[in-house]
Amino acid sequence: MSLRVAVVGGAGFIGSHLVEMLVGEGIGVLVIDDLSHPCGAPLPASAEMVEADGGSSEAAAALARFRPHTLVHLAAKGGVNRALRDPGDHIRRVLASSVACFDAAAAAACEAIVIASSGGAIYGDPERLPASENLAPAPRSAYGAEKLCEETYLRTYALRGIRTVALRYGNVYGPRQDGTGEAGVVAISSTRLVQGLAPVIYGDGSQTRDFVYVVDVARASQAAVTTTISGPVNVGTGRETSVSEVVGGLVRACGAGISPEHRPARPGEVARACLDAGRALREMGWKPQTSLDQGLAETYRYFADRAAAAQPAADGARITGR
Ligand SMILES: NC(=O)c1ccc[n+]([C@@H]2O[C@H](COP(=O)([O-])OP(=O)(O)OC[C@H]3O[C@@H](n4cnc5c(N)ncnc54)[C@H](O)[C@@H]3O)[C@@H](O)[C@H]2O)c1
Repeated sequence: MSLRVAVVGGAGFIGSHLVEMLVGEGIGVLVIDDLSHPCGAPLPASAEMVEADGGSSEAAAALARFRPHTLVHLAAKGGVNRALRDPGDHIRRVLASSVACFDAAAAAACEAIVIASSGGAIYGDPERLPASENLAPAPRSAYGAEKLCEETYLRTYALRGIRTVALRYGNVYGPRQDGTGEAGVVAISSTRLVQGLAPVIYGDGSQTRDFVYVVDVARASQAAVTTTISGPVNVGTGRETSVSEVVGGLVRACGAGISPEHRPARPGEVARACLDAGRALREMGWKPQTSLDQGLAETYRYFADRAAAAQPAADGARITGR
């Protein structure tokens, strides 16, 4: 019997890459997504789609019918800034929905639950980098606090004999990321550069992150499904890169001599982040394969191609509208 995986949030940025990869391996996939923030990539034909909140009774019914071996839960509503503006709403719409979904998966006899946590937010500002999973979590943001709560609830399902994995992603970037939101410096800067606008850096740009390419992240997520690993697992490169360096790389990829614009630093953001991904290598055989330069070039090309493809339609719409 072939493996069946339910991906909640499978229409999103990371989810769409993972769903494609799982389908490519012949794995049966059910996507549950409320389509509040889809990335726009078409779902592979063989994947089944249910439009619903992951914590709803519709989602529970779909899980009971599909009986996945593994639930991969990637649904979330925005990042650090959105959670900071309204932490109560964030908890109601994200944590409550996630835990209800874990419950539904357990009721559907799911053998494993894999969730998306955040290596960038969960460790806070640790004294030593790269941060390993042995470090005590100390989130400084509402977003990080929610991820820690999700991880804590998740552990209770391990007590019911379910294999549980919390993938602590670094700063994921790559094609299909939303370049119009408030998180994702690579996508937002690419979008601005394609439009001939200066990229924006909040603060002096010396803040560092562990930037990891989305295809590598999808491979790590797939490995979490197909191996027997459990517990928290960092998914990063072990390389600390400043926001200035990343924006500089994109400006080079774009080939235009545009200098970034600086705006005041945003509250709740950690100063430095870098993940020790040794456990992922030892226990899942995973390591990132895409260099930062390659990943930035691929990402910029995606945004430039998309803008070029949209151009004739936009021109046509303007002509028709006259
Ligand atoms: N992108 C990053 O850099 C990053 C870093 C660390 C962790 N993460 C985590 O990884 C996960 C995926 O992130 P992403 O960047 O792909 O986000 P995304 O917003 O692109 O995708 C999330 C998907 O979940 C769906 N969704 C939202 N709420 C839902 C709900 N209640 N029920 C069903 N579907 C729902 C959205 O429509 C969207 O398709 C999130 O949990 C996020 O917090 C992302």
